Amino acid sequence: MSRNILVLFAHPSLHRSEVNREMLRHIDGMPGLTLVDLYAEYPTLQIDIDREQKRLVEHDVVVFMFPMYWYSTPAILKEWQDLVLEYGFAYGEHGAALDGKLFLCALTAGGTEEGYAAAGYNHYTLRELLQPLEQTAALCGMRYLPPFALFGARTALEEGRVGRHASAWRRVLEALRDDTLDLAAVDTLPRLNDNLEALLEKSA
Ligand SMILES: Cc1cc2nc3c(=O)[nH]c(=O)nc-3n(C[C@H](O)[C@H](O)[C@H](O)COP(=O)(O)O)c2cc1C
Repeated sequence: MSRNILVLFAHPSLHRSEVNREMLRHIDGMPGLTLVDLYAEYPTLQIDIDREQKRLVEHDVVVFMFPMYWYSTPAILKEWQDLVLEYGFAYGEHGAALDGKLFLCALTAGGTEEGYAAAGYNHYTLRELLQPLEQTAALCGMRYLPPFALFGARTALEEGRVGRHASAWRRVLEALRDDTLDLAAVDTLPRLNDNLEALLEKSA
């Protein structure tokens, strides 16, 4: 089995990005992957609903890729949801267009891993903070995968963590495309990249 992957990328100031830009570079041109830079395509947020729905129908995996902004996505991804996930298309009567597709978030967070915990200064884990997206995916009949996430994104470059993260991102997408990632094993992980090496090795 081979899956088509749609990456909906949202970064309002890509020219200043250190991590997402490198992640993009690693996956650009990957066979089986469609990469959409939402802010580049819709600088005034006038999203073409028909085009976006057609893209969804043509793919098996839907990815939101973004830097975390105020514990959520940058604004264009919310606008995209509000407009594209229509009743009768994504949910509701006859709204089965997304049934059975996989959905995941790939995000970078400035905060540390310790901060994203009940006892930390952000009080919630990333997976908890992304619950509106998890439930949106569920309502639309999609299978939600844990987020692929990088903590401490602002210091990742100087600490030499960006290259490894970007390579892992490419490998995850390839494994999703080629159906070599054990989806049952990753289901309950806080992050998709926890224990990733073992999961990818097992499938290799
Ligand atoms: C407007 C704004 C809001 C942000 N909100 C958060 C946040 O809620 N949590 C967090 O961990 N980092 C937050 N950050 C930090 C970004 O997530 C971080 O700069 C980004 O992930 C780095 O990725 P990049 O190098 O690709 O830009 C915020 C940054 C900006 C500019």
